Amino acid sequence: MEIVLLGYMGSGKSTIAKYISDTMNLKLIDLDSYIEKQEGLSISNIFSSKGEIYFRKQEGFYLKEILETKSNFILALGGGTPCYGNNMQSINSSNAISIYLKGSISFLAERLKIGKNKRPLIANLNEEHLTEYIGKHLFERAPFYEQSNYKVKIDNKSIEEIYCDITVQLH
Ligand code: S3P
Repeated sequence: MEIVLLGYMGSGKSTIAKYISDTMNLKLIDLDSYIEKQEGLSISNIFSSKGEIYFRKQEGFYLKEILETKSNFILALGGGTPCYGNNMQSINSSNAISIYLKGSISFLAERLKIGKNKRPLIANLNEEHLTEYIGKHLFERAPFYEQSNYKVKIDNKSIEEIYCDITVQLH
């Protein structure tokens, strides 16, 4: 089985993917970590030294590489992955099941206050601007996220509850 987790920054893709990997015995692939390993640079360093356009190009390339060559995995995407190039089309035409971890603006903003520094798109925003930015950004991205096979709401849920909601959808 192949599962792809997608959703906005801070929606818990990496954490849930790790949990699913352990419980369902699927290989864990985190796209950001995969890119960092292949490129030999952190995501922040790729953005600052090579720019976002380069990052998006590599992100699409590695996504396709994973979808075409790997099996039995749970893949956590980056927040922007579904929204660039033909990435969502590649995901939907593969064998993988795609799941959108859907959080509200306020929930995501609260989560992203902590840990925003390693995320180049929001690292320089103060708390006041963060909520406004997420609102606009999510509005632009939602049409891509909504193309996923399944949607799971995440606000105020534990990892176990989200996992349970995912397995209900898979059966
Ligand atoms: C991005 C999200 C990040 C990372 C990069 C760009 C985005 O991943 O891929 O900083 O465009 O939303 P996370 O969603 O894991 O933070």
